[in-house]
Amino acid sequence: TVYQIYPRSFCDTDGDGTGDLNGIIQNLDHIKGLGFETIWISPFFESPQRDFGYDISDYQSIAAEYGDMETCLKLIEEIHNRDMKVVFDLVMNHTSDQHRWFKESASSSNNPKADWYVWKDGKGKNSSKPPNNWNATIGGSGWHYHEGRGQFYWASFLDFQPDLNYSNPDVKNAMLGVARFWLKHGVDGFRLDIFNSIYEDTAFVNNPASLKIVPSEESPDGFFQKMKYNVNQNESFEFATELRAVVDSFSNPPRFMVGEVFGDVETTKKFCSYNNKPGLHTIFLFQTLSTPFKAKKWRKMVQEFEHNFPSPYVPTYVFSNHDRRRSITPLGNDVRKAKLLALFQFTVRGISFTYYGEELGIEKPILPLKTGKDPLAQRYKSIPQFMVNWTGQSLNRDECRTPMLWDSTENSGFTSGEPWLPVTHNYKTINVQSQSVNSNSLMNFYQQILEFRNTTNALQNGTLEVAEDLSNRKFFAYYRILGNDRFLVIMNFTPRVQSFKVNKGEKVFSTHPSNELLDLQPYEGRVYKLN
Ligand code: GLC
Repeated sequence: TVYQIYPRSFCDTDGDGTGDLNGIIQNLDHIKGLGFETIWISPFFESPQRDFGYDISDYQSIAAEYGDMETCLKLIEEIHNRDMKVVFDLVMNHTSDQHRWFKESASSSNNPKADWYVWKDGKGKNSSKPPNNWNATIGGSGWHYHEGRGQFYWASFLDFQPDLNYSNPDVKNAMLGVARFWLKHGVDGFRLDIFNSIYEDTAFVNNPASLKIVPSEESPDGFFQKMKYNVNQNESFEFATELRAVVDSFSNPPRFMVGEVFGDVETTKKFCSYNNKPGLHTIFLFQTLSTPFKAKKWRKMVQEFEHNFPSPYVPTYVFSNHDRRRSITPLGNDVRKAKLLALFQFTVRGISFTYYGEELGIEKPILPLKTGKDPLAQRYKSIPQFMVNWTGQSLNRDECRTPMLWDSTENSGFTSGEPWLPVTHNYKTINVQSQSVNSNSLMNFYQQILEFRNTTNALQNGTLEVAEDLSNRKFFAYYRILGNDRFLVIMNFTPRVQSFKVNKGEKVFSTHPSNELLDLQPYEGRVYKLN
């Protein structure tokens, strides 16, 4: 079970309005108290912060606004002292354009780092046109002209995030060195940022056309282009196995990697295993984010994940993150549904990822694109706001990054200064302090379900079988089995009381603990231990 912290928004201890590493240290007991095993922290390294840390200018130093190396090492130690693990965010694909590597690389075409990035001559008259038609993953040409060097550089994401050139062995070694550096400092693993963009095809031929307009979870194709030559290259799968070898060389304790990749199952699974060699331990399966809250849809999702990622693969279950809207939003801010989602997330077979504040049910505010601090919002600010609201997605990622809500004092205890993003309107009731004294709160429910999972081996290590006879339009049910232990999880997806039959089982957990009836209450989920 992984808890994701977006450090800028977690807790500010120096009053500058942005969170810091001390703020994480001070609140580790909250995460431990909930029962999570692992903490993943979004980047807090030296950076101009144009993409809030996903644009790194020095991988081995800490941005002053977050703290310093000493505090970082203390953070790792304090997490370990609590018997938890810590996963750092490794942005390997690109650096900031303010990284000294890029500055050197851009300074001439014959400096020692000249081909550390992906440089190409332009086409057409005056070589002023991009070298080919490749789009960035967010649309628009990913090629950007650099005056000084008189060439174009490639950027998979935003223009200030130039891609490193992994065809150059020096680059590869430098970045493997960064991984080693943090592993030596005791980090338990990495979340790998846009890992499917690591390599590009070196023939640089044009990508074919596609009818697809918007990229989706299953396919990065979009903006009328098939991303054939710039994502999911064989060299990237191979690189995952090289990275794995480095990570495995730190075996005590064992380490872990999860990749942010996009594409169809057959392709992206190659990141986990390629040419008979192990790669990343697992990858995010973002289909969870677009699967509607319906019994049959969830059943289909689980069946697909089980089919595609049978043991020893482990599926991942993620319902929100720093790029995607809060999970309670598509649930109509209904806490009953949020509890059912948590019951599912912690009883299904897989690694669960919980974004900070989900345990409280922090809501997604509507923050206009025009005034967005997020560079994606700035880039898309000409899109009419009503269209954005209609999609329900967060094109302005500020919406999913609002401060953690600690108590009912001003700014919810997040900062004594001016918070970098607004605190959610209902923080007086939705916060850690008030939910901790309400036995019926979502936060207490997270604590209970995590405790149940942590003490029930079958939920951690058992197999999963869909209970076909109990699953229909109203219910989704599955068994978790380990040796002689058999558990049945059943969830009522309807707003009505529903009756059902269970043979020879003892109810051991419920979203509605006070319900003594056999009938399931609206949105009730239960676990039975079967005899
Ligand atoms: C990933 C991160 C996102 C970041 C982008 C570029 O998608 O999750 O926040 O902006 O990569 O690094």
